[in-house]
Amino acid sequence: MKFFYKKTVIISEILYLFTVILLFSSTGCKKDKRIYQDTGQPVENQIEELLSRMTLEEKVSMCHANTKFSSTGVPRLGIPSLAMSDGPHGVREEIKPHSWESAGWTNDSCSYFPTLTALAATWNVELAKQYGGALGQEARARNKDVILGPGINIIRTPICGRNFEYMSEDPFLIAEMVVPYIRGMQEQDVAACVKHYALNNQEVDRGVVDVQVDERALREIYLPGFEAAVKQGGVLTVMGAYNKYLGLYCCNNDYLLNKILKEEWGFKGAVISDWSATHNTVESANAGLDIEMGTDKDYNDFFFADPLIKAVRNGQVAEEVVNDKVRRILRVMFRTNVFGKRSKGSFNTPEHQQIALKVAEEAIVLLKNNNSFLPLNMEKLRSVAVIGDNATRVHASGGMSSGLKALYEVTPLLGLENLLDSRVKINYALGYKKTSQFTWDRGIIYHSDPAEETQLLQEAVAIAKKSDAAIIFAGLNHDFDTEMLDRPDMKLPYAQNKLIDVVYKVNPNTVVVLICGSPVEMDLWIDKAPAVLQAWYAGMEGGNAMARILFGEVNPSGKLPYTIPEKLADSPAHSIGEYPGEKFTVKYKEGLLVGYRFFDTNNIEPLYCFGHGLSYTRFEYSDLDLSGKTLSSDDSLHVSLKIKNTGNVDGAEVVQLYIHDGAASVFRPLKELKGFKKVFCRAGEEKKVIFTITKKYLTFYDINSSDWTAEPGMYGVLIGSSSRDIRLKNEFEYKDL
Ligand code: BGC
Repeated sequence: MKFFYKKTVIISEILYLFTVILLFSSTGCKKDKRIYQDTGQPVENQIEELLSRMTLEEKVSMCHANTKFSSTGVPRLGIPSLAMSDGPHGVREEIKPHSWESAGWTNDSCSYFPTLTALAATWNVELAKQYGGALGQEARARNKDVILGPGINIIRTPICGRNFEYMSEDPFLIAEMVVPYIRGMQEQDVAACVKHYALNNQEVDRGVVDVQVDERALREIYLPGFEAAVKQGGVLTVMGAYNKYLGLYCCNNDYLLNKILKEEWGFKGAVISDWSATHNTVESANAGLDIEMGTDKDYNDFFFADPLIKAVRNGQVAEEVVNDKVRRILRVMFRTNVFGKRSKGSFNTPEHQQIALKVAEEAIVLLKNNNSFLPLNMEKLRSVAVIGDNATRVHASGGMSSGLKALYEVTPLLGLENLLDSRVKINYALGYKKTSQFTWDRGIIYHSDPAEETQLLQEAVAIAKKSDAAIIFAGLNHDFDTEMLDRPDMKLPYAQNKLIDVVYKVNPNTVVVLICGSPVEMDLWIDKAPAVLQAWYAGMEGGNAMARILFGEVNPSGKLPYTIPEKLADSPAHSIGEYPGEKFTVKYKEGLLVGYRFFDTNNIEPLYCFGHGLSYTRFEYSDLDLSGKTLSSDDSLHVSLKIKNTGNVDGAEVVQLYIHDGAASVFRPLKELKGFKKVFCRAGEEKKVIFTITKKYLTFYDINSSDWTAEPGMYGVLIGSSSRDIRLKNEFEYKDL
């Protein structure tokens, strides 16, 4: 937007200066103490004061980008631009202000934290807080005001390319993890930006697809994470998604933005569009979008630049609508201490690396461990074959907008080399080659070479044969787990299935470690595998964490944040739902039956269920006790139980609480997660675990009253080690008093 002084501005400035001089002469103060410089006045007064001094042009200038990653400030009033950066698991490399090219900095290599599926797999709310805090510190050290994350869309289909950036298929787990992440980050004077609001559950056609979902599923499955981010996390910014919801783009969707987010939930911060997700001026402005980012035009021509000024002048958008946007943006600035004493942050500290390691260690899920095959014993093994492209691949820079320039990334092979002493010989072979390439325009392109494939398989067989045990690092990479596309299927790409097969034939002592951020099919080899680990994209310390788990330095305690179906066709979006839709419309026909809600309600056995994860020790559950037989609407019920580590190593268990509504007059999933606690117990130790149940955990969204309702009747309390491994049960009656 062109910046020009108008007569009115000059007059108001003269008046302002005059007032300041008067003020100073009366108080004897020598310093120009402008009101926005933290005068101790309530923030809202300071906002009004600033707003009253702005021209329409200045106000509008704050509502759109002035570089790829910042929106405009008002230098005349000392308001800086708002600096944003991706992304959910690290601070993105600096790019040039007006192009996507690297800025060529040499000091912007950041800490690379495990991606959000991994964070969710820790089920550790304290770690989520530390993660958000560390990322916030890194953002401050890089002078950022807003981090464009966390991504909290529901994992609806196993093949969505961005699953690795998201947390879970379950809204309760997302809500519990996202709140501490946001608080941790915002305590560092950096605004979090929850994305992508809402219903961006597939990458295919994401820029145009119209999502049709019923109101209950919207409220009970797709929105609770965002609602918790706003109401409990106090998130300062929200990113409007690319797709449409019921015919309207999310960035001009009055129902999503004004009605639900701002009016119902009381969101006081700013809505930022996803990059180029704004489609018009008047409708978006009136629907509640506050900042337009990423539009591929001259900045003056952005929908929220000159066209917005024009729309205000011709009465299509009230100036008060623009004022509201500016208030919100200023509020984000005040809340992050832009005008006050602000945290300076810190970058690449040993503490951040420790947090990355801890998250990776607690995230890794032991899917299978027949006859306590793992941990491997360093004292007994003389040689180990390490096989697979993922043993040496670094992943930080992949996935598109969430890709990072990491300070370092410990690969699995390096992690093993770091851990194992010289008595254990590591024999390495590639085994299969990454023969794919991600392209913007043509999706994934393959270029396989059968002769090379055979040779790689033979080399792997040869080292597996001569080693005491083998570890295959298989899975995906960011050609598949990426923004912009979904996977064609759930299969392991390249020659991986063949590789696993031939290696087992020569060495049954083989572990498979899956590095990926979404489910893969395992049917061709799972029966042969004595042990399988799900290791995610585990961040800069991932290789160390994997080695420590494989060799028992760390006892695994991660639990799956999503269901792994046996095959894609089993998953609800692909069986009873629709994917990717027809003619750019996708109907979420499965409604509430997302993830385990579908598998459990319809009694379909998945390969590994939601909440599943084994340990090197055993936990015994006992003494379930409810504080009463009934619960009333303004009351709470305490659920207590004991958990004992009955094995001989220390470990942590995630105790999960599910509620079953036995008396519903409307359809309800068989059970829903309503509580969890990660409990650490030394070998032999017993601990008491207490949950508190209130009415809110029993409710469903009643479409008749447009409100949350709990029906009187009997409810089951199910306590489990996973959604299907229920160890204790009891019930109580809810009375609507
Ligand atoms: C992504 C966002 C990201 C933005 C800026 C978009 O393509 O969907 O998640 O924050 O780009 O890089």
